[in-house]
Amino acid sequence: MVGVTGGIAAYKAVQLVRLLVKDGHEVHVVPTEDALRFVGMPTWEAISRHPVTTSVHDDVARVRHVALGQAADLVIVAPATANTLAKMTAGLADDLLGTTLLATTAPVVVAPAMHTEMWRHPSTVHNMAVLRERGVIVVGPEDGELTGGDSGPGRMSEPEVIVAAALAAAEGGAGDLRGLRVVVSAGGTREPIDPVRYIGNRSSGRQGVAVALSAAERGADVVLVAAHVDDGVLAAASARPGLRVVRAGTAAELGEAVAAEAGGADVIVMAAAVADYRVAEVSPLKRSKESAPVGGITLDLIENDDILAGLVRRRREGQTIVGFAAETPGDGETLLDRGRRKAARKGADLLAVNEVGWSKGFEAADNAVTIIGADGEVIGARRGTKEDVAEALWDAIRMVRESQAKTK
Ligand code: CTP
Repeated sequence: MVGVTGGIAAYKAVQLVRLLVKDGHEVHVVPTEDALRFVGMPTWEAISRHPVTTSVHDDVARVRHVALGQAADLVIVAPATANTLAKMTAGLADDLLGTTLLATTAPVVVAPAMHTEMWRHPSTVHNMAVLRERGVIVVGPEDGELTGGDSGPGRMSEPEVIVAAALAAAEGGAGDLRGLRVVVSAGGTREPIDPVRYIGNRSSGRQGVAVALSAAERGADVVLVAAHVDDGVLAAASARPGLRVVRAGTAAELGEAVAAEAGGADVIVMAAAVADYRVAEVSPLKRSKESAPVGGITLDLIENDDILAGLVRRRREGQTIVGFAAETPGDGETLLDRGRRKAARKGADLLAVNEVGWSKGFEAADNAVTIIGADGEVIGARRGTKEDVAEALWDAIRMVRESQAKTK
């Protein structure tokens, strides 16, 4: 079943339906009223070779408003507008597409298409997170030219890409990480100074949690080692089946927790922002100015172990170790050069390099990463929501693991 909603990309859905029909699938098209303003009823009927209606009041004798959803082996919504995605999140059923989506137990694949501002709006970001959590498979959107001369993330993926992802989902391919044991660290560590103060960083944990959730959605067995993570971000992860959360506070605790889980892991992703230093002497009592020298104090800091480098040293055969590198550009050196040096220093199989700054990277819903391999070669790049980046990272991890398995 293909749902088509009211966006200009509806014209590309014609090609999508054609590809499915040519591939031997029986396709029922359910457009919304708005979709018909872009591509008319005769086109959908001709291309799908089935009658088409938008209304729950047609063909009532066959209980069409639920029959299509019940019978479908796969539901694709392309293009999926911001409005339809919001309706899906809320479970609204004011047209045939809405009732069909509520009646189906088949895999649901959506291909969002909208302007960048709409894709990045907190409502859409929230709706996408809810839909993904429910197991909806999201294809795209791509970064590219949009209507009206704008460009950015929001362009619907090409029909061939959507069809490939949808057919994989129908065959259970969405669980492409099934059987994989994964450990992901996320959030910022906090190094205590005394019982009430700490040295921390601005990591919200969003990217790491997105990586863990994406792995669980794709069928992996996931342990999320969470340092300090923003309120609300962890809640979604804690409720996710197939995902276990272990809490850690300091870099040392995070190191211990990761090491305890690492033995059985096939993939370890170090997305946590680990403090490089800890306070040499943590005061058991709240430090007071009364007992401090006038004019200022000096804190002695000791270097923490590099957890990622330690994991690489102890890596067992078949284990893939992935790091993140948050870099601020400068000194005439490109981000990628800095990333490459870090990759060489750490020895991880993959390193996701992203630019951070005063207003970049942290706390935001969006991110942009370049994924490089052990030799510094670029394996992938993704700009989009942190969920999009997480998906791209798992695609790269899968690719590297497949090529490693082949060369054995
Ligand atoms: N990392 C780690 N243990 C540390 C510091 C960092 O495992 N003590 C991991 C992070 O989780 C991340 C990667 O190493 O996956 C890179 O972290 P980053 O802070 O960018 O690098 P540093 O090693 O701290 O290097 P530098 O401070 O020189 O940028």
